[in-house]
Amino acid sequence: MPTSFATTRARLNMDSRPMQLWRKAKVHGTWDPAEIDFSNDRADWNACTEAEQDLLLRLTAQFEAGEESVTRDLLPLLQYMSRHGRIEDEMFLTAYLWEEAKHVEGFHRFLDEIVGTTANLDAYLTTPYRTLFAEHLPAAMDGLSADTPAALAKACTTYQLVVEGTLAETGYEAYYTVLEEHNRCPGLRTLVTQIQRDEARHVAYGLHLLTELIHNHDAEVWPIVEHTLSDGLALVVEHIHETLQPYSAPYPFGVTPNMFVEMGMKQFEKRLAVLERTRP
Ligand SMILES: [Fe+2]
Ligand SMILES: [Fe+2]
Repeated sequence: MPTSFATTRARLNMDSRPMQLWRKAKVHGTWDPAEIDFSNDRADWNACTEAEQDLLLRLTAQFEAGEESVTRDLLPLLQYMSRHGRIEDEMFLTAYLWEEAKHVEGFHRFLDEIVGTTANLDAYLTTPYRTLFAEHLPAAMDGLSADTPAALAKACTTYQLVVEGTLAETGYEAYYTVLEEHNRCPGLRTLVTQIQRDEARHVAYGLHLLTELIHNHDAEVWPIVEHTLSDGLALVVEHIHETLQPYSAPYPFGVTPNMFVEMGMKQFEKRLAVLERTRP
């Protein structure tokens, strides 16, 4: 049990990055997935071809399982911050965890109310996707029990940079390409836009933690960051190809595998460049 308390000993550091993000989360992260208006989505869904519905359902199933995974696997990071007496981080992470749970509910509503399916959608999850979400992510997060800079670097690179910063960001772009350009499913578009705003805070937090780690422990953590990122990127690219493999040209909604690989690469390069600039 702690013998002193951060908030009574030195007060909260309200200027810290976690507290800045906490304030933003209280303003922008309180939207309710139950209030999103899906009333026009059903007609748009019905107007999609069979292949278009299949691609949209595949993408949504992947997002739904991804949101479940990140909700399930965030707790070790809260516990890590708790052990280290980092109350500001822990406060922001409570909002973060709540937001991930809301994302699960949002995609659930689309699957339940618009698609109206009770089928098992596991077949929509690709092999690299399963490697990432069922193996790499939980292993990296469980590894936080080691309480080392290396473990924290591995966890943040996997969670915030590969999963949220590269794979999910590519997924939002996919939704926009599919829905925005074809003016379909306004409720789902609103949901994705709200989620992306939350996720921007999550990725910003991961970048903050990694920047701190690189600043203080570059020799120890940089090889881990680099290796985890390049491993992650390979899985993301493989996942994109496998996701579109069941379709043939012309692809539904006019998408192409290269379009998404380019999006994934762009996100990846953006994250890597930010980190490289912070190296001493
Ligand atoms: Fe999320
Ligand atoms: Fe997130």
